[in-house]
Amino acid sequence: MKYKKNLNKKRKRRELPDDKLEKFYRILRETRKDSRFDMNKEFIQHGSTTVREHCINVAHTAYYMSYKLKIDVNEEELIRGALLHDYFLYDWHEKSWENSIHGYTHPTKSLKNACHDFDLSAIERDMIKHHMFPLTPTPPRCREGALLCIADKFCALKETLRGKGELKKKRALNK
Ligand SMILES: [Fe+2]
Ligand SMILES: [Fe+2]
Repeated sequence: MKYKKNLNKKRKRRELPDDKLEKFYRILRETRKDSRFDMNKEFIQHGSTTVREHCINVAHTAYYMSYKLKIDVNEEELIRGALLHDYFLYDWHEKSWENSIHGYTHPTKSLKNACHDFDLSAIERDMIKHHMFPLTPTPPRCREGALLCIADKFCALKETLRGKGELKKKRALNK
């Protein structure tokens, strides 16, 4: 419900029609149910944004882009694939050799975890596996994956900048 409130606050800027918003929350509910999705609230992705918030932001942005640009996609697969794109389930900020190559390896780890918890379609698997393109060399083969790539970078940049702003504010208050 908290996310519904937060996203609705943003609706003035990024408005989805009610039926599409309902669909988005239904898929979010189904994805959270009987899975490890909520574990993502324990891990930070960018700035002060958790992995769970990031995945919801990305799924909402990708869905909004498909609606606004009238791109023909399978909406359920787009939303679910985007919600699970960073389903790696660990803190990638901890210092280790493995985490130093997280950018390259987490799509495969996310796909493995997601396949363990869900029965994924070919589109959803392709989206998760190739979402880090062009950092990883193979591009997604579907429109849903291309939208995810763009929405992911856009949200990552926004979340990182917001995190830096918050840090600056904190430092200024501590002076
Ligand atoms: Fe990722
Ligand atoms: Fe991401």
